[in-house]
Amino acid sequence: MSKKTQGTMSLIKILQSQGFGSRSVCTKMIKMGMVNANGLTCYEKDKLFELENLELEVDGKKSYYRDKLYIMMNKPDGYECSHNPSHYPSIFSLFPNEFLVRNLQCVGRLDADTTGLLLFSDDGDFIHKYTSPKNHIPKTYKVECKHEISSEMIEALMNGVLLHQEKKDIQALLVKRKSTHEIELSIGEGKYHQVKRMISAVGNRVEKLHRISVGEYILPNSLESGKWIFLD
Ligand code: URA
Repeated sequence: MSKKTQGTMSLIKILQSQGFGSRSVCTKMIKMGMVNANGLTCYEKDKLFELENLELEVDGKKSYYRDKLYIMMNKPDGYECSHNPSHYPSIFSLFPNEFLVRNLQCVGRLDADTTGLLLFSDDGDFIHKYTSPKNHIPKTYKVECKHEISSEMIEALMNGVLLHQEKKDIQALLVKRKSTHEIELSIGEGKYHQVKRMISAVGNRVEKLHRISVGEYILPNSLESGKWIFLD
């Protein structure tokens, strides 16, 4: 998952692989001197470059060659996890166009009003690993509730609740009380509106939902709302 990659590739293929556009667009940019590789302007589209640690500068924007994209974002409130949003702006509008050309996808979805850790990738295997129900990847949420959270509610979440149109009870993996109205809830599935439905099944209501971890990935406090980082 690092930017370290073996082998060489021609400059034109590198630019295309990184989402900078069609062969003809990339050829034009190279001819116009808009492309630096490892600090030098390169006018030869067929010149080969070592991919490991390759530094690019395209139209003044610096980046490293990345075979695949692995990204963590602190999702802000009011964005839809969809390329074709219906009510709110798309979360993908926060990324450069090159990533969209590469077909960057959300690794699972958060509701428009849910904030916190959201992973993105263009690597199908990675997306599958973290979204397949078979893998039971744990996800932890900070949940602020409308009503005080009773011990019975916590017990019911741990024992399992039956959600509408589900055949089996769903149990929380872990519930930690943080205050009278706030818990940390870990779940091993990723069903539609799962946390909101679990909380309403025990007679409460979610006021604020913020994801703090997915599997081994933990949202760093330093990552501000709406910002993203590469995972290396
Ligand atoms: N559960 C929900 O209800 N909403 C989310 O966005 C994520 C989990």
